[in-house]
Amino acid sequence: MGVGLKKDKSSFVCQQCGYMSPKWLGKCPSCSCWNCFAEEIVALAETGGRNEIKFDGKPMPISEIPAEEGKRILTGVTEVDRVLGGGIVIGSAILVGGEPGIGKSTLMLQVMKNLAAGGKKVLYVSGEESAHQIRMRSRRIGAEAKDLLVLVEVSLEKIIEQIRENEPDVVVIDSIQTVYSAELMSAPGSVGQVREASSRLIHHAKKNGIPLFLIGHVTKDGSIAGPKVLEHMVDTVLYFEGDSGHAYRIIRGIKNRFGPTNEIGVFEMRDRGLKEVANPSAFFLSERPQNAPGSVVAASLEGTRPILVEIQSLVSPSNLGMPRRTAIGVDHNRVSLLVAVLDKVCGLQLGGSDIFINAAGGVRVEEPAADLGIVSAMASSFLERQVEPLTVIFGEVGLTGEVRAVSQMETRIKEASRLGFTRCIIPHTMSTSVNAPPDMEIRPIRSLRELLENLF
Ligand code: TYD
Ligand code: MG
Repeated sequence: MGVGLKKDKSSFVCQQCGYMSPKWLGKCPSCSCWNCFAEEIVALAETGGRNEIKFDGKPMPISEIPAEEGKRILTGVTEVDRVLGGGIVIGSAILVGGEPGIGKSTLMLQVMKNLAAGGKKVLYVSGEESAHQIRMRSRRIGAEAKDLLVLVEVSLEKIIEQIRENEPDVVVIDSIQTVYSAELMSAPGSVGQVREASSRLIHHAKKNGIPLFLIGHVTKDGSIAGPKVLEHMVDTVLYFEGDSGHAYRIIRGIKNRFGPTNEIGVFEMRDRGLKEVANPSAFFLSERPQNAPGSVVAASLEGTRPILVEIQSLVSPSNLGMPRRTAIGVDHNRVSLLVAVLDKVCGLQLGGSDIFINAAGGVRVEEPAADLGIVSAMASSFLERQVEPLTVIFGEVGLTGEVRAVSQMETRIKEASRLGFTRCIIPHTMSTSVNAPPDMEIRPIRSLRELLENLF
């Protein structure tokens, strides 16, 4: 192991501006960024190898480029197949991120068990748990199959050697932060190591058409390189939402080169592994309090699927100079904006109140269509009046208090009807073109003033 040899091959690269240095620097001389240097192998980066893209130097008509949709493997776990856009694409790289203990290993083992039972050869590489621990877990969740091979290894070179030797149909790396290449001097889990290991594994997988799952831990303090540094290298990014304190687990597709994004899969953590939740709306509403001010049901669209969520709000007089604004599961900035609009347009004096908003069930609703639900929950709590039960609300709110149309109104109304709701408050624009089920009462509104007239 000549140190000189290593030095020739690796270099420290500023992760902000790309400045290269033969040794580690605290501050980048080019862009002044502190603590931005990570060790990378330069020779490999120069020859490409990130993705299997062929460079042949000549342009060709787009219509003549072969365009068959890649073959897909169904995992048999419906929620996972949906988030992936209809199964695993051959040769694709999929990043599965989430906090430690949320259930990444459990889910992967369950999916791999299904694939192995369907005749696929699976290689599960673990750098975190011993073979014995994996066996105990697999027994607990009933994932025992001959074609599910377990490799306990952290050396990148050895992992690739084993992939070559065993020729599996699918590979899982649990987790990418434990993989270590001896060609780099930096520590396992550092940005340089994680990028190098991922890049080499992805390159190998793409060349051989093997789907590759990379499990990545997300840590709040950033002490190990997070999956964020890999997002651009992989084809699909799935993140676990929710927290390990609850039984539900949500995986969301953040990026997908082969299907819709924002699609979610909902699971419940049981004592024998993760169980799919086939009817998430019912699940999210199951603990909804009856006849309570501050609770509203909104219809949100997650990917292609409408989901009803309960939005709760607590508005109470504050005795702090600067009242508190806490938003869980909804966008904080959006809430501030909506508070200001309610105050100005409807004259509700929320300025001196602490305001808490929570999307119950741990789901995140990022869509502007949830605006009307958030506003309604706040108004209901502030006025201490309960919203008429069996009402579903959706619509975007503008700065002048106008209510704006949202996409796929009919899909949302149908979901509300399916779950037994009888009234929908929706944006006026385009409401005439909506075909609602006969027993559903539709209340189109134009502004927040009209909302307050129809809410209670
Ligand atoms: P795990 O898959 O190890 O999480 P990660 O790989 O994301 O770190 O999940 C571990 C948690 O799940 C642990 O707290 C125990 C719990 N669990 C169950 O509740 N039931 C089960 O059947 C299994 C396998 C785990
Ligand atoms: Mg794990």
